[in-house]
Amino acid sequence: MSETVILTRGLRKEFSGRRGTHVAVDDLDLAVPAGGVHGFLGPNGSGKTTTIRMLLGLAAPTSGSMALFGEPVPQRLPEVMDRVGAVVESPKFAPNFTGRQNLRLLAASVGRSTSDVDEALEKVGLGQRSDDRYRAYSLGMKQRLAIAATLLKKPRLLILDEPTNGLDPAGIREIRDLVKDLGASGVTVLLSSHILAEVQQVCDSVTIIGHGRLLASGRVQELVAATGAYRIVVERPEDATRALEEAGLTAAADGDALVVQTDRPGSEISRVLGEAGVWLDELTPLRADLESVFLDLTEGDRMGAMPSGEDYR
Ligand SMILES: Nc1ncnc2c1ncn2[C@@H]1O[C@H](COP(=O)(O)OP(=O)(O)O)[C@@H](O)[C@H]1O
Ligand SMILES: [Mg+2]
Repeated sequence: MSETVILTRGLRKEFSGRRGTHVAVDDLDLAVPAGGVHGFLGPNGSGKTTTIRMLLGLAAPTSGSMALFGEPVPQRLPEVMDRVGAVVESPKFAPNFTGRQNLRLLAASVGRSTSDVDEALEKVGLGQRSDDRYRAYSLGMKQRLAIAATLLKKPRLLILDEPTNGLDPAGIREIRDLVKDLGASGVTVLLSSHILAEVQQVCDSVTIIGHGRLLASGRVQELVAATGAYRIVVERPEDATRALEEAGLTAAADGDALVVQTDRPGSEISRVLGEAGVWLDELTPLRADLESVFLDLTEGDRMGAMPSGEDYR
């Protein structure tokens, strides 16, 4: 049985403000298996950062339990922290030092060598730019340096809280490739995001939350199951409908197209139509993509999750 790297049971966080109690994380059961990239997906304000902060001992739960590598936390954080790397808040680097100098300072403080620094810089693709000053780095490079800093301790679990926030498309792609590589190299990555496309492209499994509550969890493939339907475009829809119905398939008009319900492969539709002398212009499998799964699940939560304007801090 594979190890569960992150486990929470009934995890809850309430914040009290002038307008009463606000539940940021609502009895959340989270289970992240070892290996690969796990998406932690939810709209803004749904409780991702609060959950991550509790896992790292940066915030105290109101109730519930948590474990990292099977060790109860926060009690045993000192024992597990050297296996955990995290980028939650923007880390502080010295602006006038180069990326390499910044990492060497850090490495010295955690007992790592300069070759560990070079390796980490190489891994995040900063090799070429590591002797430029930090203040000249783009946001994407700063984010990659932050990840390099966590790699110094060669973590088994890497927690990245919305690492692509504010990045341009090229920066997003770089982080995405890096996260994929890290997942493939055997590190378990928890990647939080409010952007579907990001998670869908990178993650093996995903947990979706809304309003601090668990909405769905599982392998991306399973959440994005094919629906057993095809959209086809043909020149003679009436002839096509008749031919399909004679073959035991149902076809319904959808604008200029037809939607065919079947559990059989698309080639079957093409064969039936071909035998009836009707030729296909288009045949597209209809899938419920993660976007629609996500939108369905979080409907109603997104509005409620808008910032209240009240500052509790
Ligand atoms: N320190 C805090 N004090 C009061 N409320 C907070 C605090 N931190 C977060 N919240 C509230 O908890 C909810 C979840 O926030 P957060 O965990 O940051 O969500 P996410 O990371 O998914 O955007 C939000 O409604 C937010 O306003
Ligand atoms: Mg957040």
